[in-house]
Amino acid sequence: KIVPVVLCGGSGTRLWPRSRKERPKPFIQFVGDKTLYQSTLSRCSDREIFARPIIVVGEKHLELALPQAAEVAPDALFVVEPMGRNTAPAIALAAMALEPDDIMLVCPSDHRIRDTKGFENAAVKAANLAKEDWLVSFGIEATAPETGYGYIRRGAKLDGGHEVQRFVEKPDLATAKALLDEGSYAWNGGIFAFRAGHFLAELDKYRPDLQQATRLAFQGAEHTETTIKPDAASFAKVNGESVDYAVMENTDRAAVVDVSMGWSDIGNWDALFEERKRPDEDNVVVGQGEIIGAKGAMIDSDRAHVTLIGADNVVVVVDGDDILVTTRDAVQRVAEAERCKSQ
Ligand code: GDD
Ligand code: MG
Repeated sequence: KIVPVVLCGGSGTRLWPRSRKERPKPFIQFVGDKTLYQSTLSRCSDREIFARPIIVVGEKHLELALPQAAEVAPDALFVVEPMGRNTAPAIALAAMALEPDDIMLVCPSDHRIRDTKGFENAAVKAANLAKEDWLVSFGIEATAPETGYGYIRRGAKLDGGHEVQRFVEKPDLATAKALLDEGSYAWNGGIFAFRAGHFLAELDKYRPDLQQATRLAFQGAEHTETTIKPDAASFAKVNGESVDYAVMENTDRAAVVDVSMGWSDIGNWDALFEERKRPDEDNVVVGQGEIIGAKGAMIDSDRAHVTLIGADNVVVVVDGDDILVTTRDAVQRVAEAERCKSQ
């Protein structure tokens, strides 16, 4: 069976004020009746395919992660990071908690995936390649020169996927445009299948310092029935890095499985508008509000009742004492707000 490894960390500033340091994006109910983190766990809940999940989460978010998991994955094992050291150490900790031959499916908890069957099929294909010691990523059709994603160039055909010829993490805009024009690139969906022992061996090959420092922290961990907490003093010394830079850009064992599963990273309020908008409606209202004589507008308010009249493409978000007003084409700038940086 495939072991889901669910990652939650990061700050998610681009969806401020709803998402904030103490309550980042995975733990918010943006679409439907579950948070993104709960949906991630639910997606991996068919126990014919998936084993008991491992959740890797920062200590400061445990009080959100525990109760939210209780509803959808009561059997989960928690790896509790004393502080954030990015995704490579987080994945390494989970790999160390497993047997070398276990197949792990690394799932970010900040995405939306509409088609669970499509996801499951891809997970099974990816797991089969991971058994053969491929480090498998999920390739999403690239449709815009996004600079926040990794880019994957497909190479020789494999059973159920392709070899990766080149992996480029977060290119600048000019490079992203060039890669998109070339046409043979997919976006990296951030979901990976690895054989636990193989991942650790590859990490040790390219970042031995990171592997060894994480190993020390893991060896000093405190264990309970449902939690593993690495030693804080040792973990603090890990030179953190994302798995994309630490391993995927360097390895010559990368493979990609092409997926079409209604994936969205929900990177900003505009992407969320697109996710939420019904085909037969012009605007989106979540919570308290009314829109009159406008198109492409969104209100998301948990408190004040917002009335928006004649203002096209405007987004209003109310979260407690914070109000954000922006246009849909300026949402990328949310992270510039002083208030956003401090919260
Ligand atoms: N436990 C833990 N600890 N989780 C973390 C940490 C950490 O220190 N840092 C990040 N995460 C979690 C985030 O919550 C998210 O679910 C996932 O790991 C990926 O991290 P992000 O910080 O969101 O990465 P990204 O979006 O910038 O880039 C990655 O995802 C893109 C697709 O959305 C890369 O893999 C890109 O190549 C990819 O295209
Ligand atoms: Mg992300």
